[in-house]
Order: sequence, then C-alpha cells, then structure tokens
Amino acid sequence: MSENFGVKSLSLKEVYRDYFKIGAAVTVMDLEGVHRDILLKHFNSLTLENAMKFENIHPEEGRYNFEPVDKIKNFAIENNMGIRGHTFVWHNQTPEWVFLDREGNEAPRELVVERLKEHIKTVCDRYADVVYCWDVVNEAIEDKTEKLLRESKWRRIIGDDYIKIAFEIAKEYARGAKLFYNDYNNEKPYKLEKTYKILKELLEVGTPIDGIGIQAHWNIWDEDLISNLKKAIETYASLGLEVHITELDISVFKFEDRRMDLKEPTDEMLELQAKTYEDVFKVFREYKDIITSVTLWGISDRHTWKDNFPVVGRKDWPLLFDINGKPKKALYRILQF
Ligand code: GLA
Repeated sequence: MSENFGVKSLSLKEVYRDYFKIGAAVTVMDLEGVHRDILLKHFNSLTLENAMKFENIHPEEGRYNFEPVDKIKNFAIENNMGIRGHTFVWHNQTPEWVFLDREGNEAPRELVVERLKEHIKTVCDRYADVVYCWDVVNEAIEDKTEKLLRESKWRRIIGDDYIKIAFEIAKEYARGAKLFYNDYNNEKPYKLEKTYKILKELLEVGTPIDGIGIQAHWNIWDEDLISNLKKAIETYASLGLEVHITELDISVFKFEDRRMDLKEPTDEMLELQAKTYEDVFKVFREYKDIITSVTLWGISDRHTWKDNFPVVGRKDWPLLFDINGKPKKALYRILQF
C-alpha cells in the first residue's frame, strides 16, 4: 500500500481544527491558480509576506498602499480565514522617511512615536475585522554579540523603551487582536535566554504582550531542534504567553552549507524533511494548549524566500508542496498521525 493511501483527500485545516490555525504567507499572486486551490483546501489563516510591512503599506508620509492588502483581506473574509498582521516595528523594510524630519535630519523621538501611532491606528482600523493578531515588534533581540537588544533606528531614536511603547500603542488600537513579539532562532538556547529575560522584564512593567512568535526557519539537519523547541515552548508558557509558529519552512540545507550543485532535492533530503515535519508537528500537537497558530512561510516550492537565502541564486525546497504544487511526503506525514 502506498504511503499516501487514503490521505489525499484530507485537509490540513480540517485535520488540525481542534489543535490550532494553519496559516500560509502569501502574495496577491498566490490568490490565483494552483496556490489558490491549495489555500482553499488546506489553510484558514494568512500572513501577508510583504504587503503589510511598513515600506509596502506606507511608503511615504501620508500615502498608504492598501490595494494588495485589501485584495488579500477580501479573499480571507470570503473564505472564512483570519489574518496574522505582520508587522509594525522592525529594523528592516521600514522606509527612511519615518526617521527623518522635514530638513532631512534625524527626526526627534516625539515625531517618530507620533508617526508610529498614526501608522498603527490607520492599519488596525482598516483591517480590524479580519486580523486576529499582530506582530507588533519583529526581531528586536541581538543575536550576533552578547548584547540583549539589537541596534536599530527605532531603538536609537525612541530609546530602549521602544518595544513597550509600540505594544502600548497597539493595545490602544488593535481592538482586541492578540499582540505578539516575533523573532527567529528564539528556540535556540543562546537566544531563548535573552528573549526570556527581555520578555519577563517587559511583562513585569505591564507591557501588553499576549504571545511570542517562533519564526521556525529551520533545516533538516538540526539534531537539537526537538529538544530546543520543547524547552522554548515551556519557557515562554511559564511567562503566561501564547506561542505561534509564524514562518515555518524546513530547508534541505544546513545554514552553513554553500553547495550549489543540486537541480532537485535528493531522496534522502525529502525523507529527512518529511521526518522533521512529522516530528515538529508532533510537538505542536503535544503543546496545543499553548500553540494557537502554525503558519508556513509560503505555499509550495515554486517560490520561496529560501531560493536566495543564505545563498543567492540557489534553489531550496523547504515547503509542503513541490514546485508543481503537488503534495510532498512531508504533507502526508503531518496529515496522518
Ligand atoms: C523575517 C521576516 C519575514 C520575512 C523573512 C524572510 O523572518 O519576519 O517577514 O521577511 O524574514 O522572508
């Protein structure tokens, strides 16, 4: 009997209905063709891969670009899906104007906070009927040196309390949507420790944080993944936080691996990938009282940000559907348990 006997008709969102939401990161183009079919069958949550980021939705002072976001919002509402709002405060993909005054000098703190407030209010108001949570702050923890907080313009201009301020603003305008802090590698011990410390301090001074996003840009070769993940979920839960898995993809390459010779993934890679998806979803299910949403960072291997990262021009195959949108064995492993 073939491995996928009987599972072809199963849908991820149905199978996981009593566990957590199942999401995918999307662009407007994903609302057509084979990706549309996959979205309709398997997913009940969407994250906008880029369209809601500051530089896309608010490229100039006083000018918002709502069009692609509205299209995805309408698609979500028509199909009973929710949206994970992504993201307000991030050191990347934020336009320069936010940090400059009219003369082109660095803007004062009050002006930057005022702009952030106006931005958060406008975006929250427009999408309140479909967004169930916001990544209020993305990637604020430093991970290259011993320091706790990453340097960024947000931090330099507003000060170390910029995270607290951003959450307070979001709390005011998010109309009950849950508020998240989102980051990568935060299941790994070196960053878990820093993140725990920062979040604990923020919570102690009353910062309205509901949950933590574990981005989950993983690979098939990480032997510590499962134990790190469990420890991280338990540590964050001990702070009373919900956990979302926000950007899941499982690369076939070790991060340090720079090989460029493959035209397609090997059988060994696909098997290891299926096993890794199987193992991490087992953990997600085990912690279903803490994990309330799991989002894949893309739909199929047809296009993924991993095609260019960390090796420019190298194809990767990190998702649950292949380059033609056909299910991979990883999908079958998480549909049947
Ligand atoms: C980070 C961001 C995402 C995305 C990825 C790369 O994880 O949070 O929005 O830009 O990098 O695709």
